[in-house]
Amino acid sequence: MKLNLKIWRQAGPTAAGRLVDYVADGVSPDMSFLEMLDVVNEGLVARGDEAIAFDSDCREGICGMCSLVVDGVAHGPDRGTTVCQLHMRRFKDGDTITIEPWRAKAFPVVKDLVVDRSAFDRIIAAGGYVSVNTGGAPDGNTIPIAKTVSEAAMDSAACIGCGACVAACKNASAHLFMSAKVSHFALLPQGQVERATRVLAMIRQADAEGFGSCSNEGECEAVCPKEIPISNIARMTREFWKASLR
Ligand code: SF4
Ligand code: FES
Repeated sequence: MKLNLKIWRQAGPTAAGRLVDYVADGVSPDMSFLEMLDVVNEGLVARGDEAIAFDSDCREGICGMCSLVVDGVAHGPDRGTTVCQLHMRRFKDGDTITIEPWRAKAFPVVKDLVVDRSAFDRIIAAGGYVSVNTGGAPDGNTIPIAKTVSEAAMDSAACIGCGACVAACKNASAHLFMSAKVSHFALLPQGQVERATRVLAMIRQADAEGFGSCSNEGECEAVCPKEIPISNIARMTREFWKASLR
């Protein structure tokens, strides 16, 4: 396959950025999207040009490091899929693909396609933890939690903190990310100690970081690679108001 790429290049946080045209030749449909970019970078380095900076780590859809907007969609066209798990068979020979970084004030561009997502770390540090000693893993059958509740909590725990929800939201809201963590803990006994303070602290930190609010339009849910539902945001809002009125 031969592809025409328009890739965001930006030398640093304060430099002006622009889309630069590249041609990716000899791309196998079996390559992942990031492997395709690796091939482009090999060509750039061989010519003495600077490689395109982009984030990745596990390349297995687990770590949440990869963060590309492909043709205007965070993580690209496949639903429930991180961009590292997107494959080139999804595209056609001759296609033009535009590749940009997450765009949000709270996620400033570091270089090219790499953004600084440490704001998420600070939100987690503000309240996304439990203080109780949970000990070793007990036998699953001894845990007195209804299966539906434990499954809802574990589905929320699936959030990988990638930030696609923020990138897709016109308000750059971090609500889906926060609601995943708040739901995970609010549903389980281990999360009850900080239940009220957690939701208040996380939302306060998100406001301080410059994330916007939620206008309930669902772009976040549509791009979330772990398919975290926006019903979690409704739960977080209930948790917030209950905590505010205490
Ligand atoms: S809620 Fe989904 S899109 Fe948002 S950070 Fe978590 S995994 Fe990524
Ligand atoms: S590189 Fe880890 S989720 Fe994509």
